[in-house]
Amino acid sequence: MTTKSLRALKGERPIVALTAYDFPTAVHADEAGVDLLLVGDSVGTTVLGHPNTIPVTVEDMRHHAAAVLRALPEALVVVDLPFGEASFGRDRVLEVCRDFLRLGAGAVKLEGGREQEELRGFLVEAGIPVIGHIGLLPQQVAVEGGYHRRGSRPGEEDALLADAASVERSGCFACIGELIDAGVAGRIREHLGIPFIGIGCGPDCDGQILVCHDILGMGPDDPPGFAKVYAELGTQVRRAFEAYRDEVRSGRFPS
Ligand code: KIV
Repeated sequence: MTTKSLRALKGERPIVALTAYDFPTAVHADEAGVDLLLVGDSVGTTVLGHPNTIPVTVEDMRHHAAAVLRALPEALVVVDLPFGEASFGRDRVLEVCRDFLRLGAGAVKLEGGREQEELRGFLVEAGIPVIGHIGLLPQQVAVEGGYHRRGSRPGEEDALLADAASVERSGCFACIGELIDAGVAGRIREHLGIPFIGIGCGPDCDGQILVCHDILGMGPDDPPGFAKVYAELGTQVRRAFEAYRDEVRSGRFPS
């Protein structure tokens, strides 16, 4: 899958996107036919045990992106630009993005709406395929004081439509929207010529992206209400470890 073929899916069929942070997950997701694998900075909470995505570094992203890319997926692999990078100046951001592309990534993701238009445009001009991310921005949790749904408060719909238009104007091949009211998400999708991929935005999007640990029931915490849980791997893993513990304690070592 390329950024061009992914973009061409708008109006054809819904785009299937999922996060992945390691080699086996990338193999399974790719064999299942997922279109886009995001090495998201959600690796910070799902895998690295941080309370939010803020501590995630470029080195963390590089390490996990390399593992996903070793699966040689057919899916488009997108790597998140972690917190704070965008503020270091465009030349440093460009160098980080180039590094991700040299590793084999197909594109990078950059959180932010109109305030990041210039940076996105600069990166696209420099040959970096970029996917935008609007609505709830997890990297802003420290200033926002939490994670809030967007779209119903006065002025929010107009602001979100303007952010989405800005993402398209800066040359992005797609836009992710997070935790936006379903009606507003539907209007964003109508206004955009590029795919609008939602997470917690209802069904009226060009595709859906979810966090793999949420849909696999892997997390120590309950997944967000919008994430359907397709397997209870956390429980299964714990039961397997308990069975192993009991066998070893009773002296039954596998030969
Ligand atoms: O990091 C991530 O997993 C994301 C998704 C929630 C879109 O940004």
